[in-house]
Amino acid sequence: MMNGFMRNKTCGELRASAIGANVQLCGWVDRRRDHGGVIFIDLRDRSGTIQITVDPEQGKDLFGIAESLRNETVLQIHGLVRARPDEAINKKIPTGEIEILAEQIKILNAVTNTLPFSVSIHDDDENIKEELRLKHRYLDLRREKMNNNLKLRHKTVRAARSFLENEGFIEVETPVLTRSTPEGARDYLVPSRVCGGEFFALPQSPQLFKQLLMVGGIERYYQVARCFRDEDLRADRQPEFTQLDIEMSFMEENEIIELNEKLIVSIWKTIKGIDLPTPFPRMTWQEAMDRFGTDRPDTRYDMELVETSDLFSKSGFKVFSNAISSGGCVKCITIEDGNNLISNVRIKPGGDIFSEAQKAGAGGLAFIRVRDHEEVDTIGAIKDNLTTSQIKELILKTNSKPGDLILFGAGPTNIVNRTLDRVRQFVAKDLKIISDNELKTQWNFLWVTDFPMFEFNSDENRLEAIHHPFCAPKPEDIGESESLWKDKLPNSNAQAYDLVLNGLEIGGGSLRIHNSELQKTVLEIIGLSKNEAEEQFGFLIDALSMGAPPHGGIAFGLDRIVMLLSNEDSIRDTIAFPKTQQARCSMAKAPANVANKQLEDLHIASTWIDPD
Ligand code: AMO
Repeated sequence: MMNGFMRNKTCGELRASAIGANVQLCGWVDRRRDHGGVIFIDLRDRSGTIQITVDPEQGKDLFGIAESLRNETVLQIHGLVRARPDEAINKKIPTGEIEILAEQIKILNAVTNTLPFSVSIHDDDENIKEELRLKHRYLDLRREKMNNNLKLRHKTVRAARSFLENEGFIEVETPVLTRSTPEGARDYLVPSRVCGGEFFALPQSPQLFKQLLMVGGIERYYQVARCFRDEDLRADRQPEFTQLDIEMSFMEENEIIELNEKLIVSIWKTIKGIDLPTPFPRMTWQEAMDRFGTDRPDTRYDMELVETSDLFSKSGFKVFSNAISSGGCVKCITIEDGNNLISNVRIKPGGDIFSEAQKAGAGGLAFIRVRDHEEVDTIGAIKDNLTTSQIKELILKTNSKPGDLILFGAGPTNIVNRTLDRVRQFVAKDLKIISDNELKTQWNFLWVTDFPMFEFNSDENRLEAIHHPFCAPKPEDIGESESLWKDKLPNSNAQAYDLVLNGLEIGGGSLRIHNSELQKTVLEIIGLSKNEAEEQFGFLIDALSMGAPPHGGIAFGLDRIVMLLSNEDSIRDTIAFPKTQQARCSMAKAPANVANKQLEDLHIASTWIDPD
């Protein structure tokens, strides 16, 4: 071996231009093949793989080492780059025209344990259980797909930093040991040893600190910020995730939206080489709820919700007319060619589509099959209660054609919306309305704007902020007169906006309240007493009363953006060391028990009783 360095080239960088050169490489044995006396080793490092050829003529010792090699052994190899014979050229890999004739092989580290799964680029991961992948994440990361995902994540962050820095933003770190910020999830708490009986909360977002940075005159801030939320996990949710967090002063809502749109455009250009068309479409929250039943509609397909309350308000079908008379609504979606594609079994009790509706809170799922322009097939009570004129009007209103299937939701508007949204998404996926290819290439961005400030929390019988209680209301909704704020705020909209991509919320933000009196009123409306408001947010209110500039911002879910850019189905595949569905790290075995002494030092005791 040549001394003074471990390697002078990487496996994936060598090409035919290097033929004749002596090189020294390091890497892992991706696989070893014995071919009639010659041994081929695919050596892999981060940059790719290259074929190493070990000829018996190079000596018995060398050949003996090659024969003994197990997959994933770590090697250092010295050899000569040479052309492969024509018939052995592999056009599928960039190094496929050449090979290295090994002259020396040194084992840097042997594999002494059984590998739980194959890391080789030749094996896909379809059959590896995620549980195993997460338990041995260090091996999983060695696989090409995960390695590429982490590289893509890095490039995404780099593109964002470069854009933001060109726009005059500076990165500032905010504390991780802090107090609870109301983003709607449970907090992860950290007991304080020094301040007995008191707890820090890990930040659900840097929301208040970034606002205070604006009061602090920073004007343009960003941070790649770790956030912690103790909430139910899903494919797009982790307890510990990363936001690309941004805040700026002296900008109108529209300016903030446009700037962030440019940021997204520049990320997609860098990563995908695509020029996204701008401006991105915008839709008010109300329109999104009316047409799609959700504030994050997937606009890649239609199947929009149609309001049919008018039509059924006087119908003899009691389920519909009662729903309307008690303040709810009747809405429907039309599935093109649904008569052929979806059987009754699936939409009747026990069927998979029916059960989706049930999961969203619906009591039932009425349906109509359109036979021709006047006739439909239905079952049950709905059948006897539809007049011909109602049928005609329905067909016109829903723009449906013979062969289509119409599914109804009836009841409280929020449940109807939730049901039809869920059914719409389920059916779209099931019928593959978006082809596999479109799944990878279609980017339907949508700004959802004009969110209501509050929604009613019926469990707690109080209004709660839809985003968080620091969003500024639309000035025209609250008017100039301070004395009317309390009355007007509950029905006001916020200057808030979410960015939705293909039905997934990838970011959300707002203009913030910078008037301390207005902030106090909002805190009062969500049910905080004066004392509670002072105790929890006194520092913010003080800051707002000491010359806070108008400001606003946004936070993007970095993990989700990378998931979409890498065409993965789960954000776990975009995070180096994610938590499992049970919010655990199965590799490091966290969370874990701690010694009683540690608890004592922290002035706490566990009340947990093991159910086994
Ligand atoms: P919000 O709560 O909407 O806003 O969060 C911003 C974005 O973060 C992502 N996100 C998550 N990603 C993975 N796992 C989670 N558990 C998770 N929760 C949220 C989403 C979301 O759009 N402080 C405000 C932002 C602001 O107003 O500037 C906030 O945190 O993509």
